[in-house]
Amino acid sequence: MPEHLITDLQNILGINYVLINEDMIPYLTDWRKKFTGKALAVLLPNSTEEIATIVKTCSKASVSIVPQGGHTGFCGGATPDISGKQVILNLKRMNQVRQIDVENQTITIEAGCILQSVQEIAAQQGFLFPLSLGAEGSCMIGGNLATNAGGTNVLRYGNTRDLCLGLEVVTAQGEIWDGLKGLRKDNTGYDLRGLFIGSEGTLGIITAAVMKLYPLPISQWTTLIAASDIPSTIAILNLFQKRATSLLTGFEMMTHESLKLTVKHFPKMANPLKNDPPFTILVELSDHESEDHVRKLLEDILAQAFDDGLVSDAVIATNLSQANTFWQMREHLTLAQAQEGANLKHDITIPLSALSAFILETDALVKKHYPGARILNFGHLGDGNLHYNIAPPEGVDYLAFNMNNEKAIHDLIYEQVEHFGGSISAEHGIGQLKLADLRNHKGAVAHELMKAIKQALDPKNTLNPNKVVSI
Ligand code: FAD
Ligand code: MLT
Ligand code: ZN
Repeated sequence: MPEHLITDLQNILGINYVLINEDMIPYLTDWRKKFTGKALAVLLPNSTEEIATIVKTCSKASVSIVPQGGHTGFCGGATPDISGKQVILNLKRMNQVRQIDVENQTITIEAGCILQSVQEIAAQQGFLFPLSLGAEGSCMIGGNLATNAGGTNVLRYGNTRDLCLGLEVVTAQGEIWDGLKGLRKDNTGYDLRGLFIGSEGTLGIITAAVMKLYPLPISQWTTLIAASDIPSTIAILNLFQKRATSLLTGFEMMTHESLKLTVKHFPKMANPLKNDPPFTILVELSDHESEDHVRKLLEDILAQAFDDGLVSDAVIATNLSQANTFWQMREHLTLAQAQEGANLKHDITIPLSALSAFILETDALVKKHYPGARILNFGHLGDGNLHYNIAPPEGVDYLAFNMNNEKAIHDLIYEQVEHFGGSISAEHGIGQLKLADLRNHKGAVAHELMKAIKQALDPKNTLNPNKVVSI
């Protein structure tokens, strides 16, 4: 690294926006505290042009760049390595709304906009921005795009990729690609937008995006449902899909074991359903028609589910505040698990038709090989997405348990995922956490194609090296 790099960067950004020494500390460790890296500097640009100049400067100095948004990702993608030779490029100052196009129903926002503020700005204009996840108060739209985040509304509105119509990206060569068109159709060759979405900062730096907006629903009904086993849970989902069709916006599943942990850390988050059922399902319906229509539909579907013997108990939220409490219970699963200790996380998808068999078989295997280990299974069941997390038996030290079993448990679960035709990453991405797992489970041809893309777009390996794929 040339000695004058820091001075060059200070000249580009101003001295206050090149953080060094202890000022870097908050940017070096991920949300779960699983990864801590070192860096030369943390850069805080506030324009696309500044980012382009930074990339050219760093590339010339052979210094690699780790893009960073809210640093809430679960795979260590935004955390630098331990060499101390990388720079972090945090996009938080790039937080302007560039345009709201009411007729086109789109919003053009910079990468550093906090997700929750985008939801709020959209709502002020009478629109819904449907991306929603537990970290929405701190994750940023650039990070959401770079990880192709999912969350709790995917069932109705799709994941971040489905919500994006256009991107502005700084390439690994420091060029600016202006793809900020709000078009719903554009078949002009390769899908560059699609390529950058989900690339976790390894192919380009996303600086702005055109995102879709939707009309705000006027009525929303939320219910908690008790089910005794996973086949009933899938049958309830299929019933809602058939009868509520596009009014079904959320279908989340929480096991007894995962809720038990939530109550341990957040005693107010008690399950209002009787007898702590094996499976608690949170369902949300929303509509643009009258309140009565959705409420009646929800009651009818629940009545049928009771008649069919699928449901043993259900509570419909009577007001928004109770609905929020149900969602809080769901969101606190992650917070409780973080407080308890760094468990072994799995963010997997399985085809719904294979999901029951996957859970029955995998639960049995985990119980056989790791007696007493806690299976903290919950997730976006409507999308076939499980967070199938494994914690040590009660009272056993997390660090020791993970050190002895981490690889074997990941291997066991990912082999099961492969066997049942699933994916080892549904929504959190790969980062540094699953680099080897991706190599083992993506398939050789697909993995080589990914490496070829990285090689073609970033031959000097300037952007987030050794995340997603190594070249
Ligand atoms: P970061 O963590 O900063 O970065 C993530 C990756 O994107 C890194 O590889 C980084 O290099 C890259 N990156 C960031 N910004 C850019 C950019 N502008 N250009 C190029 N690359 C960039 N995720 C879900 O999908 N669904 C959930 O339901 C969900 N719930 C969560 C709940 C909690 C409590 C927490 C803490 C996290 C949750 N997450 C969830 C994970 C996380 O919030 C998402 O992955 C989110 O999209 C990350 O955004 P971020 O701004 O924090 O990105
Ligand atoms: C969620 O759905 O709450 C998240 O993706 C978080 C998790 O995996 O813990
Ligand atoms: Zn999730």
